[in-house]
Amino acid sequence: MNTQEWLNKVLTDPEYKIHWLKRQFIGEVTAADRIYKLASACPIPKFKKVLLKIASDELQHSLWVLDLLENRDIPIPQIESPEDRYWKVILDDADSFDKTAAAGYHAEHMRLVRIRALADCTKIDDDIRYVFKKILPDEEFHEKAFALMASNKAIQEMAKNHEAGLELLGLEI
Ligand SMILES: [Fe+2]
Ligand SMILES: [Fe+2]
Repeated sequence: MNTQEWLNKVLTDPEYKIHWLKRQFIGEVTAADRIYKLASACPIPKFKKVLLKIASDELQHSLWVLDLLENRDIPIPQIESPEDRYWKVILDDADSFDKTAAAGYHAEHMRLVRIRALADCTKIDDDIRYVFKKILPDEEFHEKAFALMASNKAIQEMAKNHEAGLELLGLEI
């Protein structure tokens, strides 16, 4: 499902829209957790600080999405994570900080495409658009930050893991 197909589905299928919003909550919470762990293990002080900032952004995003769900009376989902399947594949070869940061770049890039599509869409409900417009600049920063922390070589090397991970997710992100 490409971005346009996905956006059409969100606009026309209310159940899918709710499902996707719930997944965003889980995605933000698990991203915060994963990036805090990466920050703790990070050997480079200036990168550690950037990673802590990114993790705290993700936590803030999870709270914004939580408010959105609550205001719509959508039940708050359990934090279990099918994204783990994606991460298992993507991190399989990540035996260095460089490669893990490259994996982070691909993950941020993947989410950014859809968040940008929502933030730019005038047909989506205002409450949803409002939240994703707030999230967008942070995610743009995350993508840039990971691109700076990872080498181009690692980003290229990890692209195949990212593709394999997407396959597993059926692009349901
Ligand atoms: Fe986020
Ligand atoms: Fe992010």
